[in-house]
Amino acid sequence: MHTDDFETDTHNNESNNQPISRRKFFKKSAVSSVFASTLLSSGVTSDVTASENFHNLIDTNNCQFDALSNNFVYLNNGTEGSMPRCVISELQLSIEKWAADPTNSYESDTVFGKRQDSNRADVAQFFGVHRDNICLTDNTTMGLSFSLLGIDFKANDKVIISNQEHNAILSPLQMMQQRTGIQIITQAFPSVEKLKSMNSAQLIDHLFPNIDRLKNAKALCVSHVYPTTGVRLSLKLLRKKADELNIDYLIVDGAQSLGMLDLAGKNEHISHCDFYAGSGHKWLNGPPGTGLLYIKNKHIQPPEFYPVGSQRMFKYLNTGRNNPSKYPMAKALQVRGSSHTLGFHAMLGALHYVNQSGGFKTIERHILKLSKRVKTFIFENAPKSLISPNLEATLTSGLTVFYAFSWDKPKNIFTDKSTTEKVVAELLKHNVQIRSIGFDNNGQTHYALRVSTGYFNSDADLFTFQYALKNVLEKI
Ligand SMILES: Cc1ncc(COP(=O)(O)O)c(C=O)c1O
Repeated sequence: MHTDDFETDTHNNESNNQPISRRKFFKKSAVSSVFASTLLSSGVTSDVTASENFHNLIDTNNCQFDALSNNFVYLNNGTEGSMPRCVISELQLSIEKWAADPTNSYESDTVFGKRQDSNRADVAQFFGVHRDNICLTDNTTMGLSFSLLGIDFKANDKVIISNQEHNAILSPLQMMQQRTGIQIITQAFPSVEKLKSMNSAQLIDHLFPNIDRLKNAKALCVSHVYPTTGVRLSLKLLRKKADELNIDYLIVDGAQSLGMLDLAGKNEHISHCDFYAGSGHKWLNGPPGTGLLYIKNKHIQPPEFYPVGSQRMFKYLNTGRNNPSKYPMAKALQVRGSSHTLGFHAMLGALHYVNQSGGFKTIERHILKLSKRVKTFIFENAPKSLISPNLEATLTSGLTVFYAFSWDKPKNIFTDKSTTEKVVAELLKHNVQIRSIGFDNNGQTHYALRVSTGYFNSDADLFTFQYALKNVLEKI
């Protein structure tokens, strides 16, 4: 242990918030009105007034997503977000401050320092939780690894997952399986066709029925929003299910939901989970290398849970069930040498941006409204190609996944990798960025197109996308 590595509680709520300038949401329309009549007459719909109320909530100066050029339609928040100007500026300013005073910045600065009490407290406020429920991380992968490698799994402990989990969940579980012999139970999603007629509760019951094989598992590890199909699982219903099955820990991969859904609202509140790992660099449009981990039990500690990756195990030596440590686990996980504290502060700026733009709920509404428009467009032109749920609101998200199809013969659907990637590449030639995604559909690997409608996207962006998609699909 470093003897000079002392701890002080340096939190000061007032000191860390640089004023964040007034901001504006949408970059200018990327489609000229010349296109409008052409699109309308070709089955491409426009509803440019649909988001007007949203526009009115936004301050009009200073903070735009202007790093994205005006004619680039970026529809891939699910991979990486952009950043609004005020977040970029905040990050640049932080780098300057750090470089001018590195030792103090790392050791003791209330905003940039390694303990992160201040940024953790401010981030926690956005979700109505305590500072010691929040650890700031590099990304979702780190948060899930901290959670899954930290739990004291024993041989034959059961862990339940679905067949659509990301490697960020699978990788640490595979490690635990090899090391300790945990049993991983994989439950399959229904086929895309079946899914279309289900609601949230039916899907969760289908995935995790109340059967003995699933009861008393140590953990249920699932995604809040699936990057493969865009399906959302309600956190409230997952909590209910975990309780019914008497499962110790509900661990949720929130990579695709922080900044998309209202994680402070009743149904999707992070506190339904025991561990919730999210990314700051996707839908929230914070800097790369940012994320958060929510830990419900502030006082969780060895021998139940170990602080993997931290420098604070010494805080739990000579402690135990009868003599617990008072050192919060989120704080222990935070102190891990030099990390991206400047980014964490700028991520806080992204949260403030959300707040000034009307809050999580408003952002969610905007994202889902745009997403609904994409889903409707695909459904109306090629009903069989749409994979993401469209009708059941509680299952939907800001991700729209659909198979490539032939525009003139929409029953011709393509599920292979090369056609799907070709469509993505051709769209990019029209300055439209989406992505392809592979997934397991009833035991077969299928590839599909994925559109993310982020909070900086506008109706005009969708108009451009629809026009470009039609153009590309006419030629495949
Ligand atoms: C469901 C899911 N989990 C985890 C990740 C990894 O996210 P991160 O880069 O924040 O670790 C992704 C990234 O696409 C994802 O979609």
